Amino acid sequence: MSNKNDMMVIGDYTVDQIEAFQKDFNASFFKRIDDLFELKNSKREFVKGVAFKGHKPLEFNKEKFDLLPNLKIISNFGVGYDGIDMDEATSRGVKVTNTPEVLNDDVADLAVGMLIALSREFVKGVDWVKTGSWSKFGEMPLNRKVSGCKAGILGLGRIGREIANRLIPFNINIHYFSRSKKDTPNNWKFYDDPVLLAKNVDFLFVALVGGVETQKFVSKDVIDGLSSDGILINISRGSTVDEEALITALQNKTLRGAALDVFLGEPNIDPRFLTLENCFLQPHQGSGTVETRAVMSKLQRDNLLRFFSNKTLLTPVN
Ligand code: 8YV
Repeated sequence: MSNKNDMMVIGDYTVDQIEAFQKDFNASFFKRIDDLFELKNSKREFVKGVAFKGHKPLEFNKEKFDLLPNLKIISNFGVGYDGIDMDEATSRGVKVTNTPEVLNDDVADLAVGMLIALSREFVKGVDWVKTGSWSKFGEMPLNRKVSGCKAGILGLGRIGREIANRLIPFNINIHYFSRSKKDTPNNWKFYDDPVLLAKNVDFLFVALVGGVETQKFVSKDVIDGLSSDGILINISRGSTVDEEALITALQNKTLRGAALDVFLGEPNIDPRFLTLENCFLQPHQGSGTVETRAVMSKLQRDNLLRFFSNKTLLTPVN
């Protein structure tokens, strides 16, 4: 590594994405952030930029910053940057960028899709066909209606709003919690108490920003606020939910179901989730379409390119 564009790409990227980095930068590649410890001392001081993909809470911490004394920018792959210790970045003058907006559609599509898949029992339906139960026993057992119910959105940011927009054609009433009342259609109901929100809806979508401030925001009280007919959908971060309380509610059937794309400790999730029939589980694939990942990837690279040519960053965080 020798010129000012020296940078590291950290994370699990596709072949196309790796080739794009190689075209634009003099880059080295590490699959996991802990691999940084293997970087030779002589190379560390040349690293000015990092393209980072990872969302284990605060995994890009002081220890890692110390390994890269001349780091100037981290371009994060994803809208959520809870993998990065932002206080550490800002105090060292390291700029951080993320990839907002471009993934709203995919994440909102998945959230609504997961709700319908769970309530209408798509997995059981596929099984019913494939195992021959249909011809043997006739109709599959009845499931539960989605249209016309009441939905709560916990966190009416960019993704939360897209989820709400998708629910309106289903004739679903929108209730939301947010730190402050938002400019919304008149019939969207604002709550300043998440427990009260849970008590007033059938389905609760978690669309909070991940991080220390929202840790276990979906507390036992919020989960218990939902009725035994209720469904929790989480597309934000596993850290936002008290998983112990959620698993207990699912085991005791005080909650009808949970549709989850994100988990604490993912991909090594709590094994109890695997045994629960009232869960619809996805492997954190909210933004995982070819189209969206290509745009996220380009935005990540463009931020780095602009940084190295002293241009304004497109999507700065600090
Ligand atoms: C991930 C996400 O970035 O944008 C986010 O915050 O969680 C996702 O889009 C993606 O899964 C790559 O890890």
